[in-house]
Amino acid sequence: MTHRTIKQTILARPTSDGAGVRLKRSIGTDILSELDPFLLLDNFGTENPEDYIAGFPDHPHRGFETVTYMIQGRMRHKDSSGAEGLLRPGGVQWMTAGRGIIHSEMPEQTNGEMSGFQLWVNLPAAEKMCMPCYQDFEPDDVPLVKPTDGVEVRVIAGEVDGVLGPINGIAIEPTYLDVSLSPGETFSANLPLGHTAFVYVFQGQAMISNDNVGLDHLAVLSDGEQVCMSSADGGRLILVAGRPIGEPVARYGPFVMNTTHEVRQAIQDYQQGNFV
Ligand code: FE2
Repeated sequence: MTHRTIKQTILARPTSDGAGVRLKRSIGTDILSELDPFLLLDNFGTENPEDYIAGFPDHPHRGFETVTYMIQGRMRHKDSSGAEGLLRPGGVQWMTAGRGIIHSEMPEQTNGEMSGFQLWVNLPAAEKMCMPCYQDFEPDDVPLVKPTDGVEVRVIAGEVDGVLGPINGIAIEPTYLDVSLSPGETFSANLPLGHTAFVYVFQGQAMISNDNVGLDHLAVLSDGEQVCMSSADGGRLILVAGRPIGEPVARYGPFVMNTTHEVRQAIQDYQQGNFV
């Protein structure tokens, strides 16, 4: 059994997006512009409504997938195909933008905490222009596994102890786990060899093998079959993995294609109203 260790650690950078939503970005910055097949990771989290209330009004996407996982608070999603959904704490939406979609992601609360993650996942060239589609799952649809006392794992995608997450049919064959570790507890996750993997610590801190990962840090993992996590004082993290795509990436804002010509075409199609 080969064990994954930490290759690189990055402190997430405060930024804002949408109509002024404050968030912390770790993938998609000039320190780590991408981590094939992942293009962006934002951790939004605040108890100040001023920091989120303006939300993410109508905006387009083409050529990749956006994955929203809510920790606290509620987010209403509406798009140009007429689809609509409400994300609640513990719920997940895996949206395959494909050939193009215009949507809004708006907080549906005026006070209290709101936090969660948005991950951008690339699509291989053969699927970039597919029809847009969604996988939306309520909190109860995401299984909770307790491998040992003091360890709780919500399985959004992938497998833990024979329990499968609800997300399926995705090109990169993702793993997406929300792992809570009580003080002194250890959890080992099996990951497919060759898949890119990272952890992001959003409560407390954690150890990966023998190295510490602090709060709001993303740790890129080396290759291996298993990753061992623990926390001296307690911590919570997401562990995400996926098969690298290995194709050229040309990106401009919400359009991620293989060539600049395809990006220009995406901008033109959007401006001419040719998205869904
Ligand atoms: Fe979006």
